Amino acid sequence: MSLMPAREPAARPVAGGASYVLLHNTSEVVTPDLAGEKILRFPKGAVVFQEGRVVEIGPDAELAPRHREARPVNANGHLVTPGLVDCHTHMVFAGHRAEEFHRRLKGESYEQIAAAGGGILTTVRATGAERDAVLEKTLALRLERWRAAGCTTVEVKSGYGLTPQGEMRLLEIMRAAAQRVPARVHRTALLLHAVPETYRDRRERLLEDLMAKTLPEIRRRELATAVDVFCAEIAFSVDECRTLLSKAREMGFAIKLHADQLARDGGARLAVELGARSADHLESATEEDWKALAQAGIVGVLLPAAALTLRLPLPEAEMLRRVGARVAIGTDFNPGTAPAQSLLECGALASRLCGFDAEETLLAMTWNAASALGVERDVGHLNPGAAGDAVVWECETMEELPYWLPAVRPDSVFMRGADLAFPTVERRVWP
Ligand code: NIG
Ligand code: FE
Repeated sequence: MSLMPAREPAARPVAGGASYVLLHNTSEVVTPDLAGEKILRFPKGAVVFQEGRVVEIGPDAELAPRHREARPVNANGHLVTPGLVDCHTHMVFAGHRAEEFHRRLKGESYEQIAAAGGGILTTVRATGAERDAVLEKTLALRLERWRAAGCTTVEVKSGYGLTPQGEMRLLEIMRAAAQRVPARVHRTALLLHAVPETYRDRRERLLEDLMAKTLPEIRRRELATAVDVFCAEIAFSVDECRTLLSKAREMGFAIKLHADQLARDGGARLAVELGARSADHLESATEEDWKALAQAGIVGVLLPAAALTLRLPLPEAEMLRRVGARVAIGTDFNPGTAPAQSLLECGALASRLCGFDAEETLLAMTWNAASALGVERDVGHLNPGAAGDAVVWECETMEELPYWLPAVRPDSVFMRGADLAFPTVERRVWP
């Protein structure tokens, strides 16, 4: 049986329309169902895109006769999934911190390096010294790399500006870079990440300035839809995070937290108290925390690259199933804790480290990740009406997705129903 729109029959296809495509000859098409509860599998399936959206999904044998006017695109017997969603990245930064990575391998801790003025502040200095145009280009190229790896929706956080002006600058750069590439970009203002040098010993003033000037300005210029904080002993307290996030929520922003990462600081509980859209990291959260998040319907975002890099534990899939958690997986791409450039690779790691099966891993990188961004109606699945973002992978079954290392790569990536060329040359992004 094929899935057609629930309310009304599929709109009559425009004969020969360039944006009318039948993606066929697949090994299987797999997608989360509309509620994100399970994965639907269509062996030898097909997907029909029209005007940038999915109009029908089902067996090739049923769809092909109904869509003779569509332009056929051959999947060469390969697997098709929705475009993946990376719901947590810090992609706008300059430089790298490979040297700190090696200091940590020799025994220094993330906290010690931060206390000595390194860590996040190292990247803040490098980013502050870089030209806007270079940051914009670097970010656009990164977004293209994500698309080439099968991620069609990407969240990007600011956070390496720290001061009100520094954060506004990065948010503007994020908006400019996003306009150069086809990826769907969700901008989050990470406003409490570390105390900037110019506000040292003036933490209260920093919060006041962010709330009185920065938040209204971000809203006025529509620079971000969500606000995030780093709730940790080396960063900001539960009370400070509550103050800023309450204000952000009142102003209509979705709110998110870096919660219970290095220690159990109460971030997950604050996420529940405030009704956050997601609570991210959670390496030090307990079963009780996960249960509270599940009951409040808050997505818990696991970031396996950061957990591995800092050698922190990840929760067991068995416990997450027991409490009914809604789990997403993100890269957390950043120069300090997660220099990870493939979401699928992170999914393959989480599958092994936590014990997720192929279905859970795919849900965590699609529907659940879209839900962490509040866009699960639109992306993260291929039900009729959804955005026409899909990936043809160089493998045949869903079980292979978390199996291969390095991760399986896309043969082609569809965005808005069109198979776009891969970003093989810089010119695509930066003429
Ligand atoms: O998600 N935990 C805080 N923020 C980032 C790391 C930032 C950095 O070290 O540059 C994270 O792990
Ligand atoms: Fe992060």
